[in-house]
Amino acid sequence: MGRLSMTLGSILLVMALASSQDLPTVYEYYTEGGITSGLETGSNQFILNGKDITLYSGSIHYYRVVPEYWRDRLKRMRAAGLNAIETYVPWNLHEPKMGVFDFGQGGNDFSRLLDIRQFLQIAQEEDLLVILRPGPYICAEWEFGGLPSWLLRYPDIKVRTSDPIFVGHVRQYLDQLMAQVVDLQFTSGGPIIAVQIENEYGAFGEPTEIKDRVYLGAIRDAYVENGIRELLFTCDTPANSSDTGALPGYLQMANFNTDPEIQFELLKELQPGMPLMSMEYWTGWFDHWFESQHNFGNTPENFARYLQTIFNYNASVNFYMFHGGSAFGFMNGANVFDFFPNYAADVSSYDYGAPLSEAGDYTEKYTRAQELIALDNKVQTLTPSPPPQNPKTAYPAVTMQEFITYDQIIQQIPTELVIQIGSVTNMEALDINDGNGQAYGLVVYRSQIDLSTTAQLQITGRIRDVAMVVVDGEQKTKRPASQLALLGFGYWTQENSTFLLEGAAAGTNTLDVIVENWGRNNFGQPSDFDQRKGLYGELAVDGVALNDITAIPLEFKSSWVQGLTGWQTLAGGEALSGPLLLRTTFSITGAPTDTFLDMSAWSKGSIFVNGFHLGRFFHLGPLRTNYIPAPLLKEGLNEIIVFEHYLPADQLQFTDTPILE
Ligand SMILES: *[C@@H]1O[C@H](CO)[C@@H](O)[C@H](O)[C@H]1NC(C)=O
Ligand SMILES: *[C@@H]1O[C@H](CO)[C@@H](O)[C@H](O)[C@H]1NC(C)=O
Ligand SMILES: *[C@@H]1O[C@H](CO)[C@@H](O)[C@H](O)[C@H]1NC(C)=O
Repeated sequence: MGRLSMTLGSILLVMALASSQDLPTVYEYYTEGGITSGLETGSNQFILNGKDITLYSGSIHYYRVVPEYWRDRLKRMRAAGLNAIETYVPWNLHEPKMGVFDFGQGGNDFSRLLDIRQFLQIAQEEDLLVILRPGPYICAEWEFGGLPSWLLRYPDIKVRTSDPIFVGHVRQYLDQLMAQVVDLQFTSGGPIIAVQIENEYGAFGEPTEIKDRVYLGAIRDAYVENGIRELLFTCDTPANSSDTGALPGYLQMANFNTDPEIQFELLKELQPGMPLMSMEYWTGWFDHWFESQHNFGNTPENFARYLQTIFNYNASVNFYMFHGGSAFGFMNGANVFDFFPNYAADVSSYDYGAPLSEAGDYTEKYTRAQELIALDNKVQTLTPSPPPQNPKTAYPAVTMQEFITYDQIIQQIPTELVIQIGSVTNMEALDINDGNGQAYGLVVYRSQIDLSTTAQLQITGRIRDVAMVVVDGEQKTKRPASQLALLGFGYWTQENSTFLLEGAAAGTNTLDVIVENWGRNNFGQPSDFDQRKGLYGELAVDGVALNDITAIPLEFKSSWVQGLTGWQTLAGGEALSGPLLLRTTFSITGAPTDTFLDMSAWSKGSIFVNGFHLGRFFHLGPLRTNYIPAPLLKEGLNEIIVFEHYLPADQLQFTDTPILE
């Protein structure tokens, strides 16, 4: 009997495997017999090419994941039972200069992250449909919500409105973007089934006021006139702003992290008989620097409970995020508030407490989502098994080997970037980069003064966002000890601030006020989108306005960082102080793996791995680690350069586990 049942069991198992292998893929199922129609709204149900479909979609931003890992992450998403993915599109990276576009071949630092066509094609190869959200405003905890900073060169521009200057640039960009994706629509045999118009537009302005539909219509026209035929829609939180951000005639979807019934009941009232979808079911949450601890967002239990409620409504879902990835370089966004601390920059990790971690690891939310989707999904398709976790290594600590002083850094700024501006002006207004200004990084406002006696530095207006004062190459400001430091000199919280300059050597002294753009706000009211960075009031010493100012941008472009010369060997034991650059190399035997840098012992700054600007670090956290995906490393010698604002550590520590705190 035992033997017989074993055999029977084996036969049944073989049959089950055979039948699961006979299952169609998502594309086979929905394109069987040819494609005659795309995604449509039926009665309380989406229909794709004539068949009912519930969308199980997950957000992943291609520009937050190194391209070598796109397929890896997409496989994991498909293995969870997802039949679709969703991505925003970052205008600021795709049009780095006005009228200059980059879809992967632009030769810019992040060009490797920008081949959207390749990403969409891989998604299709991995049997996933695609929901595209081009914005052009994307929020996303991304620099300026994805808007290019050069828009701020127009003094009175009204972003996210039908202001002709803004809409003109939107149209120019969308024409280029749509040309990239038009043949990747579902009805042309590609993956794109739906395209979003703007983003949470109901949250922009008074919740009850109907928003600028001329602007929404202009985005719709840009899609349609460029040949987009798939389903168009908007998304908002109905309980906050009802349908004031929607465009009549187009489906509205709901964004939330709790209480789906509240949002869905409102959607049903607003759009009777229409299919329900959560376009952003927030799986977790994000962190700001200075926060005392990591925000986990929904616990796995609540995450599963609300997901089940979504399914009980027969609704479709897009998990925002399913895989968050990282905000590389200076690409983090920020929030502004009416209350202290008024502004808060987002950390470089976009782990988001999502089902797949920043490094692509499975979490409890992954298992919960996988189980609930399997129970809800009535369309059986061939689902791959989840790929194994990627290995992680805590490489041995490496000692910093060389440094470049602040003065040497400044000397190596290309002369075409250094401008006499007279009095201070914001970084976007600087006449550099072919008339596009400075987009990201820090800007030095330099003046020559006589500091033989103590004097008072006065800054009129606000600092955007953090200022360091350096006299004759020497750091005069201290690293913040706690959030309370924000009440003192050097931060955005203060309007009209002063700093005591102690008497220095007689003669002419070089006074530098270095102002860091810590990331532009990505969400809020129209007035919150005035995100000019640097200084734009007045800089004075003892009441006398400085009018001999030179602006020196510190953009930290990869080619510049990699071309730096004058590295001096560290003997060890030097009392180094920032701002400065430190460099080290270390060797990896065999294929590199993923790893994390634990920056707890450092203060504040940026990390460059083999020239790639990984992101920022800050000693007050909550984030402690910066994720290094293996493809940024290589077998043999690797180089890491750190820009440190205040106090450097003498080593770099690696860990195999993220510390989000
Ligand atoms: C909805 O309202 C809450 C409470 O006022 C607010 O915190 C949140 O940011 C709003 N969400 C959106 C998407 O508007
Ligand atoms: C969901 O769909 C099922 C089957 O079509 C139906 O019986 C049920 O009433 C629907 N539930 C809701 C909340 O619409
Ligand atoms: C800051 O200085 C400006 C110019 O002198 C003045 O108009 C403004 O009222 C001052 N703000 C505060 C908060 O003192």
